[in-house]
Amino acid sequence: MTAPFGRRLCEVSENRASDGYRVFSLLDRDGPEPLPGQFYMLAVEQRWEERGGRPFLPRAISVADSGPAASGVRLDFLVEGVGPGTDRLCALDPGERVWVNGPLGNAFREPREVNPGAAGAILVGGGIGIAPLALLRRGFAERGVPLRVLLGFRNREHSGGLELFCGAGAELCPEVRLASEDGHVGHQGHVTDLLAAMLAGDDAESAVVYSCGPPAMLEAVRILCAERGVPSELALESPMACGFGACFGCAVPKPEGGYLRLCVDGPVIAGENLAAVPVHA
Ligand SMILES: Cc1cc2nc3c(=O)[nH]c(=O)nc-3n(C[C@H](O)[C@H](O)[C@H](O)COP(=O)(O)OP(=O)(O)OC[C@H]3O[C@@H](n4cnc5c(N)ncnc54)[C@H](O)[C@@H]3O)c2cc1C
Ligand code: FES
Repeated sequence: MTAPFGRRLCEVSENRASDGYRVFSLLDRDGPEPLPGQFYMLAVEQRWEERGGRPFLPRAISVADSGPAASGVRLDFLVEGVGPGTDRLCALDPGERVWVNGPLGNAFREPREVNPGAAGAILVGGGIGIAPLALLRRGFAERGVPLRVLLGFRNREHSGGLELFCGAGAELCPEVRLASEDGHVGHQGHVTDLLAAMLAGDDAESAVVYSCGPPAMLEAVRILCAERGVPSELALESPMACGFGACFGCAVPKPEGGYLRLCVDGPVIAGENLAAVPVHA
C-alpha cells in the first residue's frame, strides 16, 4: 500500500481510555486503507513541542484498526504515553488535527504466502505491541484463517486495547489467551510461556507465528520458532526520524552484513532473516 505523497492534516474524531493505554481515531479523507503491520508518522498540529519550544520529529505509530468512514478512512491508534510525543497524542481532543504521513512500511503476509503448507496463524503480542495484531486478527477472522491469539502484559497499568480484539463490552474471542507478569489476568508469567506450550502441540508446526512487542519478548519468540522450525513474521521497532527511507535512523544490521532500513524494508521482518532482534537504547 503506497502512501500519498507528502503529509496531510487529519481530524481527531475520538480519544478514549483503554485501561492504561489510549485509543484515538483520525478521519483520513485522502489516504488509502492501510494494511496490518503498516504505520504512520504522526505529529500534532498544535503544541507539538518540548518544554523549551523546540519542535520535535513526528512519531511512528502502528495502525491498530481502520475502516471506511462517511468521508474517508477511519484510523484507530493504540498509544502508551512514554515521552513527550506519545503523551501529547494521548491528550488529543476530538476536533484537534494531526499531521499524518502514511501508511508506511510493509505488511504482514498471509500464512500461505509465508509457508504454502500453513494451516493457520498464531498471533503473539506484548504490551503496546499488541496494536498491529488487532487489524491483522480482524482480517484473518474475516477471511476464515484459523487463528489463535496470545497477548501478554507486564501489569494492569501497562495493559489495554483488548476490546480492539473482539469489540467493546464483548467477551474476548475464544481464540484469545492472556498472560500477565503480575497475575492480574490470565496465565501468571510471560506470553512466551503460552507460545512454548502451543508450539509443543501436535499441529503447531503448520502455523505461522506473527508477533509484535518488546525486543526481549520478540527475541524469545524468534528463538522458540527457530527451534521448532515454525516460520515467524516479527514487527520490529527502531528510532525513526523520517519513516520513508531518507535518514537511516532506523538501520538494523543484517546477519549477512549490511543494514536494513526498518521503515522501508520493515517493520515486519521474517524471523529467519534476523541473527537476533535488535535492542535500541
Ligand atoms: C514502526 C513503529 C510502530 C510503533 N507503533 C507504536 C504504537 O502503535 N503505539 C505506541 O505507543 N508506540 C508505538 N511505537 C513507539 C513510538 O514511536 C516510540 O516509543 C516513540 O519514540 C515515543 O515518542 P515519545 O516522544 O513519546 O518518547 P521518546 O522520548 O521518543 O522515548 C521515550 C522512551 O522510549 C525509548 N524509545 C523511544 N523510541 C524507541 C524505540 N523505537 N525503541 C526502543 N526504545 C525507544 C526512549 O529511549 C525513552 O526511554 C512505534 C514505533 C515504531 C518504530
Ligand atoms: S526512519 Fe528514516 S530511513 Fe528509516
